[in-house]
Amino acid sequence: MILVINLNASLDKRYALAELTKGEVMRADSVQNTPGGKGLHVANVATILGADTIATGFLGGKTGEFIAEALAGYGIRHDFVKIAGETRSCLAIITADGAQTEILEPGPPVSDAELKSFREKYAALLPSAEVVVASGSIPQDIDKGIYADLITAAKAAGKKFLLDTSGEALKLGIAAQPYFIKPNKDEIEALRGHRVDSEAEVIHEVKNFLAEGIGLAAVSLGADGSIVGCGEQLYRVTVPRIKAVNPVGSGDSYVAGIAVGLSRGLEMTETLRLSAAAGTANAMEAESGFVRKSTVETLLTQIKVEAIDPT
Ligand SMILES: Nc1ncnc2c1ncn2[C@@H]1O[C@H](COP(=O)(O)OP(=O)(O)OP(=O)(O)O)[C@@H](O)[C@H]1O
Ligand SMILES: [Mg+2]
Repeated sequence: MILVINLNASLDKRYALAELTKGEVMRADSVQNTPGGKGLHVANVATILGADTIATGFLGGKTGEFIAEALAGYGIRHDFVKIAGETRSCLAIITADGAQTEILEPGPPVSDAELKSFREKYAALLPSAEVVVASGSIPQDIDKGIYADLITAAKAAGKKFLLDTSGEALKLGIAAQPYFIKPNKDEIEALRGHRVDSEAEVIHEVKNFLAEGIGLAAVSLGADGSIVGCGEQLYRVTVPRIKAVNPVGSGDSYVAGIAVGLSRGLEMTETLRLSAAAGTANAMEAESGFVRKSTVETLLTQIKVEAIDPT
């Protein structure tokens, strides 16, 4: 089973408008409501790829109920801690010029008792997981070191932990040595405080992560694929050129592919092929954190995984 942690769930509301003008009343042409949060994207894609997956975290209020029902509709198993606060909504406004403007709510308060319930639920779910994934931001009331705690517990139980987050949560998480991380360029630049441009610089960063005790470190580069390090091995993963519709959630889909590959015990090169195919398949869809299984299968043969000389 793949256990996916999504601490800061949201109801994602996607509005289509002709144009957006500050200070004016605007009428949306359409609105789509979908469960959001990076972990829920991961759980959705892992479920579509056929893996036994369970999502956990916090849900509250009517918005939380809506998300729980929507997840059930998608066939995503879940076991969330119910909280008193209202789960947040995140707004994405897409205008005819293709621009996307986002308003992200900070998320509800989480009490100490609710956090304790989550830690207990995690401890109860951990034994039946082969792989644990934590994706996305941390609610404002919760210490940014929580992923580090969850990583330590997973490692003690002999489980692989996949971490996809940013900022302080990523920094503290890396110190606890998760099995896998997947920063994109922006996330590495924020973490290291300097620019990372050339492939040589990306490779250097991947090697640094391995030296810091990460088992499998991937730097994703959007349409340019990814550079991955695993133990002594380095790989360049190249993806086919596609017509990108909406690449938001491609990183989450990539993480889902890694989780599925690891949970199935696939060879590393096959795992990387699956993750890249899932990331690329997501970019071909309007919905974030969604892939068609048939598209992933077609793309698998078009992904190139080559070894890079580690010296
Ligand atoms: N335009 C694209 N064309 C082809 N493949 C893509 C494209 N964008 C993303 N991918 C695939 O998805 C993977 C992850 O994408 P990306 O680097 O954009 O992740 P990300 O920035 O973490 O995204 P997010 O956080 O929104 O999920 C890439 O390594 C690649 O395999
Ligand atoms: Mg990402």
